[in-house]
Amino acid sequence: MKILTIETTCDETAAAVVTDELRVLSSVVASQDELHRRFAGVVPEIAARAHVERILPTIDEALTRANVRLEDLAAIAVANTPGLAGSLRVGLVAAKTLCVATGKPLVAINHLHAHIYACRMAAGREVFPCVGLIVSGGHSSLYRCAGPTDFAYLGGTIDDAAGEAFDKVAAKLGLPYPGGPAISKAAERGNPRAYDFPRGLAQDRRRLDFSFSGLKTAVRYAIAGPQNPDLANCTLTEQQVADLAASFQEAVVESLIGKTLLAIERTKLGTLCVGGGVAANRLLRERLAAAARRAGFDLHIAPPELCTDNAVMGAIAFERLKAGKTEPLDLDAVPGLVRR
Ligand code: KG4
Ligand code: ZN
Repeated sequence: MKILTIETTCDETAAAVVTDELRVLSSVVASQDELHRRFAGVVPEIAARAHVERILPTIDEALTRANVRLEDLAAIAVANTPGLAGSLRVGLVAAKTLCVATGKPLVAINHLHAHIYACRMAAGREVFPCVGLIVSGGHSSLYRCAGPTDFAYLGGTIDDAAGEAFDKVAAKLGLPYPGGPAISKAAERGNPRAYDFPRGLAQDRRRLDFSFSGLKTAVRYAIAGPQNPDLANCTLTEQQVADLAASFQEAVVESLIGKTLLAIERTKLGTLCVGGGVAANRLLRERLAAAARRAGFDLHIAPPELCTDNAVMGAIAFERLKAGKTEPLDLDAVPGLVRR
């Protein structure tokens, strides 16, 4: 059995063909990074328009590479939540139109659940039940994942997402968008103890929430203090940029790991799955691996190509399809985070 999966939640237009044995027959990702770079962040209207231009060629390419015709598909699946409203709707309209034209069933994908399912795809074996950590440009959340269709929200960021903090701090440091890879690279030559940045909510062990906005402000004041608030006229040496990047990265990674270990302790689950763009971060991966060795839990981090947005992780749709959960054709986009 084969399905087509479509992903347009943010700024990647992606489509894939996957089998119910979770074999990937094709995966196409059209990145929009170059369109958003000069704004140092995703511009929703530009993202939606670019999806409109790219969605049909991307789907065509996925079907062609998989050597599959629309008639061969068992269903068409699309991520309808959470994400940018305009972006989500482009994928949704494409999926629904294909369903109308072919009579195939429509399956809904929760984009955050799919980020965790990337670990299932890569592992080639069961990973549930697990604690799920999703760290991306739009989200930083912890879930108790009883099964692939049974997620319970444990906590998450109360302000910025981790990826968003990477992107905003990178812009302040004069590093290119997306900020995550650029900061990670700059940090290689930096001292992670050069600046003592805050670990938001770290002391509050009652909640499994994150906060990154205070950290972002702290970096801003480390670059330009209250006496000299003009960021644009601050010149930093290469070493200062490296030290700021390394110290910032250290603070994000420590914050994420602290609450994640707390979630494992609380839930008593022996497996941790980590997905989302920030999960590509090397320091985070190394620290998580060390923590897993120390605490003795099973660790699955999505491989870097399945961390950032893609349609392969949309194979989670099989879990719903097999349970008979298909959608009516008036399925809508739900941009906001539904905490389940
Ligand atoms: O999952 P994703 O592709 O899109 C969303 O669903 O948001 O995540 C994109 C985010 C960006 O903020 C980017 O800066 C961050 O992931 N990112 C990284 C790394 N690679 C991508 N953050 C830290 N280190 C990285 N190596
Ligand atoms: Zn994502």
